[in-house]
Amino acid sequence: MNNNLSNIKKSKFFLDKGHCVAIPTETVYGLAANAYSDNAVKKIYKLKKRPKNNPSIVHYSNLKKLKNDCELNKNFLILYKKFCPGPITFILKLKKNSKISNYVTNNKNTVAIRFPKHKVARDLLKKLNYPLAAPSANISTKISAVSPEDVKDEFGEKIKFVLNGGRSRIGLESTIINLVSKPEILRLGGIEINRLSKVLGLKLKFNNSVKKFTYPGQGKIHYSPHIPIRLNIRNPKKDEAFILIKKRKKIDKNFFYITKNKNLKEAGKNLYKTLRSIKRKKYKSISVEKIPNKGLGLTINDRLKRASNK
Ligand code: TXA
Ligand code: MG
Repeated sequence: MNNNLSNIKKSKFFLDKGHCVAIPTETVYGLAANAYSDNAVKKIYKLKKRPKNNPSIVHYSNLKKLKNDCELNKNFLILYKKFCPGPITFILKLKKNSKISNYVTNNKNTVAIRFPKHKVARDLLKKLNYPLAAPSANISTKISAVSPEDVKDEFGEKIKFVLNGGRSRIGLESTIINLVSKPEILRLGGIEINRLSKVLGLKLKFNNSVKKFTYPGQGKIHYSPHIPIRLNIRNPKKDEAFILIKKRKKIDKNFFYITKNKNLKEAGKNLYKTLRSIKRKKYKSISVEKIPNKGLGLTINDRLKRASNK
């Protein structure tokens, strides 16, 4: 605990000085900086090699602080009450006098905001007098980081400080919902669409139209280990890595379980870790057993499909 406290102080020290710090969240690690500072936010984009036109998510500890920056609406308040803090990101209208840097929003009049649940992230956010802009802590289009070791794997010594919060519990990015006009899902994620539809009392659709949204984060190639991936495979080739979700009698050294009993939560948590380790082992192709297209399986299949686009 003391260790945690002094690491949070250290993070605050670097963030106050306008540097980037990697922070743990329950979904994936974020590469964070002061969302009110142009210079600090610019450093995130440089480190990640992220296109400037891909806006970032701003992280808050509570509603009171958010009110300075966004217009809150009824649907937001319903979902906030039920799911926050948690793995959900809201697109809201930016207030005219908001201090959020234009580099975060790419000069748009909307902003993505989120309240992470991870205790260490919350403890840090409560100590700051600005919110944190934080895209996932990985080089643009590569696999998201779910542990401090993954962050180091991505950035080496280039980041001033990595705040250790252990392994991310969910292991998949937050669900993104656009609440600026008619609610719609922009990214599948840690909260299942059906649960959101139920609470709002409407049937939410996943809008995956890359044409309509020019945000690279929702683009076709993403979350990618840059190794070709084949989906819905029963029998893999001899020399390719094979990702499985159900225990088999006979296993080979190229088999990688993300769960042994079709537990999709467990599969989600292990997905990025497994892709990273397959890459480290220098496999040239990956095949994946069929994963049911329901609940978190939808999110997992979405990530695999994007990762398999070349
Ligand atoms: O779980 C998560 O959401 C993690 C943790 C660190 O919070 N963050 C994350 O950030 O996944 P990132 O930058 O990798 O993904 C943010 C996504 C991008 O696809 C971006 O295009 C979208 O949010 N986004 C940001 N602002 C937006 C806006 N105003 N309208 C539509 N999409 C937006
Ligand atoms: Mg990302």
